[in-house]
Amino acid sequence: NEGALWGGRFESGPAAAMAALSKSTHFDWVLAPYDVRASKAHAKVLHAAGLLGDADLATMLEGLERLGADVASGAFVPADSDEDVHGALERGLIERVGPEVGGRLRAGRSRNDQVATLFRMWLRDAVRRVAAGVLGVVDALATQAAAHPAAVMPGKTHLQAAQPVLLAHHLLAHAHPLLRDVQRLVDFDRRAAISPYGSGALAGSSLGLNPDAIAAELKFDSAADNSIDATSSRDFAAEAAFVLAMIGVDLSRMAEEVIIWSTPEFGYITLADAWSTGSSIMPQKKNPDVSELTRGKSGRLIGNLTGLLATLKAQPLAYNRDLQEDKEPVFDSVAQLELLLPAITGLVATLEFHTERMAELAPAGFTLATDIAEWMVRQGVPFRVAHEAAGGCVRAAEARGVGLEDLTDEELAAVDPALTPAVREVLTVEGSISSRNARGGTAGVQVARQLDGVRESARVL
Ligand code: ARG
Repeated sequence: NEGALWGGRFESGPAAAMAALSKSTHFDWVLAPYDVRASKAHAKVLHAAGLLGDADLATMLEGLERLGADVASGAFVPADSDEDVHGALERGLIERVGPEVGGRLRAGRSRNDQVATLFRMWLRDAVRRVAAGVLGVVDALATQAAAHPAAVMPGKTHLQAAQPVLLAHHLLAHAHPLLRDVQRLVDFDRRAAISPYGSGALAGSSLGLNPDAIAAELKFDSAADNSIDATSSRDFAAEAAFVLAMIGVDLSRMAEEVIIWSTPEFGYITLADAWSTGSSIMPQKKNPDVSELTRGKSGRLIGNLTGLLATLKAQPLAYNRDLQEDKEPVFDSVAQLELLLPAITGLVATLEFHTERMAELAPAGFTLATDIAEWMVRQGVPFRVAHEAAGGCVRAAEARGVGLEDLTDEELAAVDPALTPAVREVLTVEGSISSRNARGGTAGVQVARQLDGVRESARVL
């Protein structure tokens, strides 16, 4: 069998079901361009170590170049008989330059150090694409925040009316976790930028090959210091899977709000037609499917992370074939986010906010009660007393079916003599919001400053 990388000690080939179980070309083929690049680097260190003559090196590099082009064009694809991407590419090289030269490439390397290196290369690139997509969502949130600098809304805890906040403050509250996720991806890369190439199957190479030369050529920061660790550890993949799952969770929290906000009961937003779907039976429907798929796929990303961790947890050193199961969950998490991120970006960028409705609801549910209590504290009243008095105002307003701002001067004074008409300066949504003007608060000046900070962070990441 042409594509087989082993067989010398076997009398028969693998059973059909064995070959089917073993096969990975249907998913590891995405590593092929990386394998070709790494093979070129490997050929050069073989040459530097005196194991490949000048002419053979030239032939091999030229063959790999053609093979890479054929992989890119689709002219070369895995055959049924190929076990994995590495075997398929060796077959392809030998078909192009013959067994005499093509058969020399495999010296001093194993699929174990190869696949560990290629997976890192693929993931480092993929993570950069994902980070750019996440920054797209951050940009859409920042743009919406900038477009609504003064819009107010009911802030909630426990999904119950709590205190009024600026819409821009709320939108930016979704941008911060996403920025931290991008920071996590940047940080991930520091640990992923170590090359396992040269570790061989597990013990390193005896052929005088220089792992640092390969590492540099493949844009890693350095080669690994322990060949056993380098061929068997996948914490880099789990770390990426975690950050990808965290991105899913952060997007899902936002998606959940888009779903709720677009109901007539809330009526905060209308979704753009381009980012919603209809119903096959109910003609009036406009459904928030982008958000629902985000929520749904975040479950899948969590599953990919936990599945990978379970795969890793009981493996003795060094390489075990279990590790072939490391790639699909991570590939899938990346693929799902590459579908989601542009859609979420489009959804957020085109949300239409009903700011009048939000403003109308901002004081509902007595959300200014805390402002009464804090105003009294500023007049020297102990908070325990002020909290009681503000509660008394809520009771009085509730009994009469009006808002706190509708209480008369007499009603206020009856609750507590300290409640003079001056308290009315905080009995407006705008007064409440602008009073929260310490760093991190919802006052307009702070939110404007925060928006600059978010945009600056997004720019330098
Ligand atoms: N396809 C394997 C993987 O993805 C690499 C091959 C290692 N096979 C082996 N028998 N050592 O991990």
